[in-house]
Amino acid sequence: MFEALEQELAGLEAQGLRRRWRRVEAVDGCRIRVDGRWLIHLASNNYLGLAQHPRVKAAAREAIERCGAGAGSARLIGGTFALHEELEEKLALLKRAEGALLFPTGYMANLGIITALVGPGDLVIGDTLNHATLIDACRLSRAAFRAYPHRDCGRLRAALRHRAGRYRRVLVVTEGLFSMDGDLAPLKEIVEAARDEGAWLLVDDAHATGLFGARGGGTLEHFGISPEGILQMGTLSKALGSLGGFLAGPRPVIETLKNRARSFIYTTALPPASCAAALEAIKVLQEEPVWRARLWENLKSWTAGLSRLGCDLISRESPIVPIRIGSNERTMALANALFEAGLYAPGIRPPTVPAGSARIRTSLTALHTPADLEEALICFENLLGDERMASSR
Ligand SMILES: Cc1ncc(COP(=O)(O)O)c(C=O)c1O
Repeated sequence: MFEALEQELAGLEAQGLRRRWRRVEAVDGCRIRVDGRWLIHLASNNYLGLAQHPRVKAAAREAIERCGAGAGSARLIGGTFALHEELEEKLALLKRAEGALLFPTGYMANLGIITALVGPGDLVIGDTLNHATLIDACRLSRAAFRAYPHRDCGRLRAALRHRAGRYRRVLVVTEGLFSMDGDLAPLKEIVEAARDEGAWLLVDDAHATGLFGARGGGTLEHFGISPEGILQMGTLSKALGSLGGFLAGPRPVIETLKNRARSFIYTTALPPASCAAALEAIKVLQEEPVWRARLWENLKSWTAGLSRLGCDLISRESPIVPIRIGSNERTMALANALFEAGLYAPGIRPPTVPAGSARIRTSLTALHTPADLEEALICFENLLGDERMASSR
């Protein structure tokens, strides 16, 4: 009955595109145990190590004791706990926004925000490398969509001008820090273009929240841009070490989402323990600057080490450090060899990234020690050396 699916899966296998996960059995600092072996984890978005921080774990445990393991209901039906409201206040402060609204995940936040704000008769203009969650949300909204080449503000402006009053609303959508390329959006120019042309702007700061900006407020804070009128999406699931998505922005937008965002209304609220963990993570972020300092130190030595080995780094501005490989097969062979050597650094292939741009995506955390990074660099050196020898034969 499902033969057609078997054939499609075999097709994916033949193109080197079949996806499989590794089963993590335990976590200790930056190391994970997979199949009984401890490996250096270079694939986590837990950039500051806060998912493992004793205060963050204790806050989650305490919330479970007090509120239970789950919220038990949707937010508007009886699932809003004091912890949700407290976290929304803290997120609004972190993002210097009028208000904030939580969603169970970042994916649901993007779906809810975009579908609640635009629809048929509206236009969304987005960067070609925007995350899949943004692309899905645009499709679901049924608004018209135009892409501009990655970080190209001239083309963004041209697309904004071209609309010439043909649409009711225009929404510009970009990631603040791109998840698969690790580079920052030219936000000053994007904000100017959107403001000049009277368009709304949504910045997906999933990866930058907690990392960029003097207080960890994200890319707007990093670039010194006033957040007034800008919609800032973020997740709690990366640098804040928990789970959940949110929008921080003007009050009428927040109220509209509460009333219209289906992925907010028709789903069970984020577990109170996730809120408590994120609240404590925000406190740790502000009280223990050491984690961010360690992360940036690690970034310097990691990018310097990989460059010495001749790796083609797509960017070096953030803890997401992707190494360009190109072919799917070579990328996956290298990822598997790294795994065998004790490093978990996954290969990323299309459709997650454009065809021909497969890569090993390494991500750093504050929990990596200089010794861990040295060990990882030795693995890379050995494997890249073996690869070069094999290709010169
Ligand atoms: C840019 C971007 N936006 C949104 C999301 C979704 O966030 P979450 O994992 O919290 O659902 C991700 C996560 O991978 C992401 O990278």
